Amino acid sequence: MEPAGYDAAMENSGIIKRIDAALDDFVGSSELPENLRDAIRYALLGGGKRLRPLLAWRCAEAVGSPGEAAVPAGVAVELIHAFSLVHDDLPALDDDDLRRGRPTLHRHAGEAMAILAGDAMMTMAYDMLWQAEGLSDGLRVGLVRELGQGTRAMIAGQVYDTLGGLPVALEDREKLELIHRNKTGALIRASCRMGAMLGGADDSELAAITRFAEDLGLIFQIVDDLLDVTASPEAVGKATGKDADAGKLTYPMVLGVDATRREIDRVQTDAETALKPLGHRAGPLLDLSRAMARRDR
Ligand code: IPE
Ligand code: IPE
Ligand code: MG
Ligand code: MG
Ligand code: MG
Repeated sequence: MEPAGYDAAMENSGIIKRIDAALDDFVGSSELPENLRDAIRYALLGGGKRLRPLLAWRCAEAVGSPGEAAVPAGVAVELIHAFSLVHDDLPALDDDDLRRGRPTLHRHAGEAMAILAGDAMMTMAYDMLWQAEGLSDGLRVGLVRELGQGTRAMIAGQVYDTLGGLPVALEDREKLELIHRNKTGALIRASCRMGAMLGGADDSELAAITRFAEDLGLIFQIVDDLLDVTASPEAVGKATGKDADAGKLTYPMVLGVDATRREIDRVQTDAETALKPLGHRAGPLLDLSRAMARRDR
């Protein structure tokens, strides 16, 4: 029998509503100057697919727990993700004017506020983990460590992507994988692992979730690169065609569009294999990963 509250049939839209409410409550209850709170709300709420909190929820379910257990992880990772986007868009990095269909935060509130709102969201993610109720000390410390490692890897990936410094001996393909696994894969890995940890995963369940998450993180950035080439700004809510202009190393640039699509399918097959040991409980997670590989925004 499933534990009380187990509801694998809950729609993703219902989970997103729950996450948005938790994000909104948390920003509302944090001690912040009102102009900073407004900037954080602007960047964090009102847009975004909430894929990382959804993954955390579905990973908790995949190890037999109610997805609700993963909400603190979802909130924490979404705060780090929002910080990473605000800083990614800054003039010193990708210099973008459009995000989630609206002006980027530095366009809306100025560059100083965008830098500081990003900084604040990073620390708020840890406040969330400290405040989460009903966790053992060991679990809380494990979550903090996981989020810290994921965030540092994301930053390392942003450095590789923006400033270089990759090991020179690597082939372009290997460089790409290293950039993607860090800048995007690491936070997706942390979302999944933290959700599974909050769901009470044992070692073998966590190993299965980790393998799945590493595949999915890679797929997610490959698709992002593909959309930069194939999608319209209206569809994705951000400028497209920018990676080639900026001379970024991307999968479509190195492999071409068709081989990039085949690569997505190849990694997706491995991701699905990774979930097999978790059985039917991983069904919604499998559906979510398929939707992510096929997404058009
Ligand atoms: C965009 O992430 C940046 C990447 C890491 C590829 P998302 O596509 O998840 O952005 P939102 O949160 O839905 O806006
Ligand atoms: C960003 O990658 C990854 C982050 C850590 C934010 P991109 O620069 O490709 O993301 P978009 O396309 O601006 O969303
Ligand atoms: Mg970037
Ligand atoms: Mg960018
Ligand atoms: Mg991109």
